[in-house]
Amino acid sequence: MTRILGIETSCDETSAAVLEGRGNDVALLSLVILSQDVHSIFGGVVPEIASRAHLTAIVPVVERALQEAGVTLADVEAIAVTHAPGLVGALLVGVSYAKALAFSRGLPCVGVHHMEGHIFGTTLDHPEAVPPFTALLVSGGHTLLLDVEAWGRYRLLGGTRDDAAGEAFDKVGKLLGLPYPGGPHIERIARDGDPERYHFARPMIRRTQKPGDPDYFDMSFSGIKTAVRNAVQGSDLELERNSLARGFQDSVVETLTEKTFRAARMFGRERVILGGGVACNKHLADTMRLKLAGIGAQLFAPSPRLATDNAAMIARAGLFHFELGERAPLNLNAYASLPIPGLVQERH
Ligand code: KG4
Ligand code: ZN
Repeated sequence: MTRILGIETSCDETSAAVLEGRGNDVALLSLVILSQDVHSIFGGVVPEIASRAHLTAIVPVVERALQEAGVTLADVEAIAVTHAPGLVGALLVGVSYAKALAFSRGLPCVGVHHMEGHIFGTTLDHPEAVPPFTALLVSGGHTLLLDVEAWGRYRLLGGTRDDAAGEAFDKVGKLLGLPYPGGPHIERIARDGDPERYHFARPMIRRTQKPGDPDYFDMSFSGIKTAVRNAVQGSDLELERNSLARGFQDSVVETLTEKTFRAARMFGRERVILGGGVACNKHLADTMRLKLAGIGAQLFAPSPRLATDNAAMIARAGLFHFELGERAPLNLNAYASLPIPGLVQERH
């Protein structure tokens, strides 16, 4: 049994969590997430402001996580910290703090890949969601479709060729005059939209596609964004906003669902997990659940708290690497981009 402190500062959430366990048997003792609201007035995350806000928040956030878990640093056996990918200045705050804390307390430190964290995050809600499974990770910066045959063995099947799924939600949110981040607002207003009014093309979906085609699993979202922009220009936004949101969301959801369905079917997976902020989208989860039922596969979607950026998922992924004996050197660095560790093959 290991008790581990997780730290996450890759974007605009300062988060810390305490988790304990062994293997797949884990208990989350605390999770504190401080979201930096300041970015909403700029319509997106401002990296320099994010770094400074992390600096102010990191100490009280970690202290609060320890307090809520009813432990002190003396009860912690390891520290896990996100070191990639993300905003380098933001990541550096967490990485420097974690290393200093580990060094001063004589504790081992483990560097965690943020997207691997998102895979583990979903299992904190659903302990039965263990590999092998298909994983669709959809966040503001990444869109990855993976086949996970075991923890630490990730086959990258496809990803976006341009905008990430969450990025598309955020950009379309802006086009529709909605606050940042656009995802939750689009989902909310799309419920009142007319599904028949706008039909945007489903990108990279063709009837003639076969496994092995380069676009069989790959995705693209910038075309839909342009299509929405063109539709916005010719319409009365006040009247059309909800239906435009509905048409956009349906297009993205159908594309993500079809690609994920193909992956689960090809590998014969009975479990599919969703991870990342876009996994909060109920319409996505419902559509996927229905489609996957057709091949007897079960969908596991995270609760909103564990879908968006949080340190619990970092602690969980960190525990996995810690148990493998991995220890970060004192020169552990932050990287804006880095492949997920344990990729067994770039493309299928
Ligand atoms: O994983 P996350 O918290 O941060 C990154 O690692 O990027 O994901 C944030 C993204 C944003 O693009 C946001 O618009 C999107 O998740 N998002 C949603 C919903 N809630 C958050 N997208 C669609 N529907 C939602 N309900
Ligand atoms: Zn994330």
